[in-house]
Amino acid sequence: MPLDIIIGAQWGDEGKGRIVDLLAKNANFVARYSGGDNAGHTVTVGSATHKLHLIPSGIVHEHTIGILGNGVVINPTTLQTEIERLRGAGVSLTPERLRISYAAHIITPAHRALDTALEKSRGAEALGTTQRGIGPAYTSKVMRHGIRAGDMLDVETFADAIKAQVEETNLQLTRLYDAEPLDPQQVAVAYVEFARLFAPYIDDTATILHHALRQNQSILAEGAQGTLLDLDHGTYPFVTSSNPTAPAALTGLGLGLGHIGRIVGVTKAFQTRVGEGPFPTEVSGDTATRLRGTGENPWDEFGTTTGRPRRVGWLDLPLLRYAVRINGLTEIALTKLDVLTGLPEIQICTAYRDAGRTHEHLPLGPANLAPFTPIYETLPGWDEDLWDVRAFSQLPAAACNYILRIEDLIGVPVRMVSVGPEREQVIHID
Ligand code: IMP
Repeated sequence: MPLDIIIGAQWGDEGKGRIVDLLAKNANFVARYSGGDNAGHTVTVGSATHKLHLIPSGIVHEHTIGILGNGVVINPTTLQTEIERLRGAGVSLTPERLRISYAAHIITPAHRALDTALEKSRGAEALGTTQRGIGPAYTSKVMRHGIRAGDMLDVETFADAIKAQVEETNLQLTRLYDAEPLDPQQVAVAYVEFARLFAPYIDDTATILHHALRQNQSILAEGAQGTLLDLDHGTYPFVTSSNPTAPAALTGLGLGLGHIGRIVGVTKAFQTRVGEGPFPTEVSGDTATRLRGTGENPWDEFGTTTGRPRRVGWLDLPLLRYAVRINGLTEIALTKLDVLTGLPEIQICTAYRDAGRTHEHLPLGPANLAPFTPIYETLPGWDEDLWDVRAFSQLPAAACNYILRIEDLIGVPVRMVSVGPEREQVIHID
């Protein structure tokens, strides 16, 4: 089917980048529909590791066209850096290969400064944002005084809008948060340069995608963050300021209903979380160190965007079932199964308990997970190295058992399993 959607089924960082990379092989377009450079997608191709925050990671395939949809918020500095870095790595990024929706909103340094000031003012109640200005940029959008990519096409008006936005934010920064103001003129001058640079990339991306669908071309909608970070359906208020869930792919790209094929939920074989907020299956000590890694490898559990060590824990199936339901997932891609190698036993949380009651589904959504105690099922581990395994039948029996048990408990098939960081270290299950 023409529109496949890849979704993070957890709190982000599920390894979506590499699943996108796999599915992008057969896609004409790879499209981001929400979030901004708060995301971090790592794709390893041979000896090259690409860390992308904003540009769709499927762009590393030469035949794809990348789209930044209307639902995205764009930091031009990041965009410029990524374009240059990709070019340096031999990935051509001419305007023909990357189209930016005129309706995508622009992040300014004032949004970033405000994000930082807000976080600081929250003290112990901080949300742990990436401080990329995401919340303030979406606030500008919702307040209906945001600046859009299309505004770059009229440089003078754009410069005035940028200056006004910085001046207005300076009032908040200085009067409410005792923070340093920014120089509006300096920001405007820099953004005029960005306007000149990006003008050739700006387009009506929704129309481009409509035409593509009419010609039976395929689109891969590339989710950023994860279901539990969704502004409406996540662990509010410890969420991002957009909707990373599957239905938002339609709004965030300007597509109607009726084109959707696969909705792939990507989940790690365990649970991780960056930032604050409840995490019922979180573990500490040796098991945590084992799951997290030391940070020496690019695939260890340290944030791609912030470098922060991620919190880690056992796979949480009540939350995964929730992700299946909210997104209408048709299948699961299970990542990092190899990380579990060597653990004598593996726990999976099958349900929650509170006040003597058992819940297989969240009674009031995931916002308040604090009262719940996980109910675990213990499964045997395995010692065999999985890096060279390419077929389900070659997996150790305990690893097969782990996958089958997950399928059984969530009611959706696992169709892909990653067993290492390289492109080809994946098992496809029919
Ligand atoms: P914001 O999106 O920067 O406002 O951050 C809000 C919350 O979402 C924080 O807990 C961040 O750590 C988290 N977050 C945002 N983007 C990502 C991501 O791509 N992966 C994991 N966590 C993220």
